[in-house]
Amino acid sequence: MKTTYTNIKQLAGIQENKTVKKLSGKEMSVLNTIEDAYLHTENGYITGFGKMAELSKSLIQQEIDCSGKIVLPAWCDSHTHLVFAGTRETEFVDRISGLTYEEIAARGGGIINSAKRLQSSTEEELYQAAWARLEEIKSHGTGAVEIKSGYGLSLDAELKILRVIKRLKVDSDLTIKATFLGAHAVPPEFKGNKEGYLDMLIHEVLPIIHQEGLADYIDIFCETNYFSVADAERIMEAGTNFGLQSKIHVNQFTSIGGIQAGIKHNALSLDHLEVMTDQDIADLHHSETMPTALPSCSFFLKIPFAPVRKMIDEGLAIALATDYNPGSTPSGKIPFVISLACIYQRLTPEEAINAVTLNSAYAMGISDTHGSITVGKKANLIITKEISSYNYIPYAFGGNHIESVVLG
Ligand code: NIG
Ligand code: FE
Repeated sequence: MKTTYTNIKQLAGIQENKTVKKLSGKEMSVLNTIEDAYLHTENGYITGFGKMAELSKSLIQQEIDCSGKIVLPAWCDSHTHLVFAGTRETEFVDRISGLTYEEIAARGGGIINSAKRLQSSTEEELYQAAWARLEEIKSHGTGAVEIKSGYGLSLDAELKILRVIKRLKVDSDLTIKATFLGAHAVPPEFKGNKEGYLDMLIHEVLPIIHQEGLADYIDIFCETNYFSVADAERIMEAGTNFGLQSKIHVNQFTSIGGIQAGIKHNALSLDHLEVMTDQDIADLHHSETMPTALPSCSFFLKIPFAPVRKMIDEGLAIALATDYNPGSTPSGKIPFVISLACIYQRLTPEEAINAVTLNSAYAMGISDTHGSITVGKKANLIITKEISSYNYIPYAFGGNHIESVVLG
């Protein structure tokens, strides 16, 4: 089926050159846009675009009039934990009363609290809850999403999450990548025996994941009081042995060398980055790893925002993602992430939009097929309501300015 979107006020996020897989430094400030444009799609793929004045009307089979509307590539959310059970608003209130995120975790809240609830949920309950979250994020423009395990913390429960993600991949029209994050926290059963827990993940869980094709990437929470750099190296090495590239949590609260370990092990992305030394930033220049910031986590936990302005000014690429999870970011809305990046991290709308499209596609290994308006890529499109320009999206924060999302 051929469809032509006509009279598009702004067709934004164009990459003529299919070989461009990510944008770095100054390149991020350019969001290629055609005003008064058309876009052809066929069988779910982009087949052409240009100025309305140059559209040959005889080529139109099915027409969708986009007068007054903006068309963009659908967002790619390269970091979420959206398969979870229950919510943690009690901890939210505790934090308002003065407890820190670390203090709440130390007394058995946090990740361990979510794991307990997930362990007692059925696969079907998890699937239904995650399905509703996918529908919700789609309505806010997300067309591709990475989902991590990590609230299971046992062989059975981690596999349960990954099997849910596998079903979602088949049933949903969103493009989904799965990441194994067994090393999210040491569960109470392994208290004082972190090595034993890592042994179990590596020698018992990973082989099953490999056999059933349950994960695309591997992750670990490399952080003071969670997992050390040596632990991260072990997990990344084990991942490599099973063909899983790493995407790891680093530098959320402390800078302990996770960046350097990630680069050494050729991580696809290094995520969080709230606390960065000059050396951490300098080292990222010598890698193909995508630094990924999660501004809605900074907002919710009131922790520093990653220094992405400085990083882009120094020539690095940056991706942005939501981190959707019940503890640090109970929200999966990319438009809010774009607003936060513009307001608190001083990214221009162009930089922020590139960071949640092409660069976040790179951070989930799909920039060949997603993340830009490019002939041959998937027709994963956002069609906005009638708005003045793409700048209105971060400006009028909190509203949903998207009319429809087309996925293939
Ligand atoms: O990415 N930082 C580690 N993990 C999650 C949050 C975990 C939780 O509090 O449930 C994150 O922010
Ligand atoms: Fe996370």
